[in-house]
Amino acid sequence: TDNSEKTWLGTSLNELYEGKGPWSFSISPVNASKYHTVLYELPATLKEPPKPHISQQQQSDDSDYVQMPHSEKNLFSTKENGQAIINLRWHIITKSLLKPIKNSNDLEAAINSYNSALPKFTALHYFFQQVLDQQETETFFQDLLPKMINLALQLPDLLPQSFPLLKSNHNRSVSLSQLQAACLLANAFLCTFPWKKGVSTCPGINFMRLFAASQRPKRKDAVMEKLKCLLHYFRRVTATCPVGVLTFERRFIHRSAMPRWDMLTNIIGRTRIHINSAGTIEDDGIGFLQVDFAHKLVGGGVLEYGCVQEEIRFVICPELIVSRMFVETLGDQEAVIVIGPERFSKYSGYGQEFKWVEDFVDETPYDEYGRRRTSVCMIDAVHFKKTKDQFYPSAMLRELNKAYVGFSSNMKGKLSPVATGNWGCGVYRGLSTLKSLLQLIACNAAERDMVYYTFGNKKLRDDLHNMYLFISRNNITITELWRILCKFSSSNVSEQKLYSFIQQAYFDSKKQPDLKKYFGDS
Ligand code: AR6
Repeated sequence: TDNSEKTWLGTSLNELYEGKGPWSFSISPVNASKYHTVLYELPATLKEPPKPHISQQQQSDDSDYVQMPHSEKNLFSTKENGQAIINLRWHIITKSLLKPIKNSNDLEAAINSYNSALPKFTALHYFFQQVLDQQETETFFQDLLPKMINLALQLPDLLPQSFPLLKSNHNRSVSLSQLQAACLLANAFLCTFPWKKGVSTCPGINFMRLFAASQRPKRKDAVMEKLKCLLHYFRRVTATCPVGVLTFERRFIHRSAMPRWDMLTNIIGRTRIHINSAGTIEDDGIGFLQVDFAHKLVGGGVLEYGCVQEEIRFVICPELIVSRMFVETLGDQEAVIVIGPERFSKYSGYGQEFKWVEDFVDETPYDEYGRRRTSVCMIDAVHFKKTKDQFYPSAMLRELNKAYVGFSSNMKGKLSPVATGNWGCGVYRGLSTLKSLLQLIACNAAERDMVYYTFGNKKLRDDLHNMYLFISRNNITITELWRILCKFSSSNVSEQKLYSFIQQAYFDSKKQPDLKKYFGDS
């Protein structure tokens, strides 16, 4: 309504959209190449799911590829009549999953028949026995689970070959269809991916730790709600086959190619900002590059107890979970961009108050390559144990470089603004006053505007806006701000006074040193 409070300051979204709406910004293409593996037949038509693509190329080194459940090299030993027999693991998987599974105990037993050393699925039992009612549980085992198994067992048809890992320190992309993603996720639910404790360089996609996450009573409720989100996703994709595609892009910038923050004369105020105390990145950052406040093992605790920004995003857009299968641990100069994830669930609350609410119909249009026009930028901040630590120049440099690798792009044309917020300022205990400025600098260097959701914090909205006005009215450059931040770092001024320190330090730096010499300090 007209009387409703205006919650934002800065440039309006309409201006940021340049009057052309959310869908006019540059998009990166899907062109199959040595650096971009496309797992379906191009082009995606959106009439039906694209067909899988069979590559003629020989797999070079196994350690560079995803280990698929149906690989011929995936063997498992079982005992038959007291004798150990080595089997193709996919054989056992198929056999076990095609037997009747009537309840969560049967499901656990089936999954154990092709895995060893699994934790007990106490959370899964609790979910079906205490959280869902009897009718819902029956529907799951009679209707949804068979469909999920059917989807999972199509793996050899939908993804006949393995595909490359997104390895550390390499720029590389993988595109796959939403159907392929759904099939991988159904396999993840059924824990069919080979795994060995401590061996993999990727976070891991099997759901077993989620199924076991019931030891911490206070955090159990959120686990149950996450399970509801995930089952809802499977309900949707098994009822109506999604037709779109997705791209996962790993970005790496060598240290020597990073901007020299101490030497950049960019005027920061050229970057426009919209700061909103209401709204969220995923609800309101439409058409923007939406930041995921990530863990270096992408997805963080999504398949365990975690339930903050990243984990919530992953359960409402479960296709993001696929990244855990093939994105190696993020290094300091790396980020992952996911283009095209669809949102399936509405939620309420946050953290331990998180609740699955209902179905979400994602109306985001597709781009010309068949991807939803949603881009998620996974960047992991540093977890600061002590507030002071984040002000060391080395720490600020690390966060600037991290944000920059996530935001920068070599695409031509107008880049979308970054939709972000208190990145690294929750679980990771950073200060939003500092992190917002570092992100602003990175946006400026990457030539993107910035949309900042303060998550209800009006004071931060107002303070950040005032700081921004000061920076832009004085044409402050990146170098100047960087130097002031470094000065702050070696001062003893309280972290709470960062913004007033910046203003004072800027005035001080503009005082003519020569005049001081002639007239003294008075
Ligand atoms: N939109 C905008 N702002 C948000 C949203 C949202 N949807 N959700 C939260 N915030 P946090 P971190 C704000 O703690 O500190 C995960 O386990 C809110 O003010 O998720 O970078 C990862 O896997 C919140 O306090 O991010 C990592 O392990 C703040 O953003 C770890 O947490 C920070 O959210 C990352 O922790």
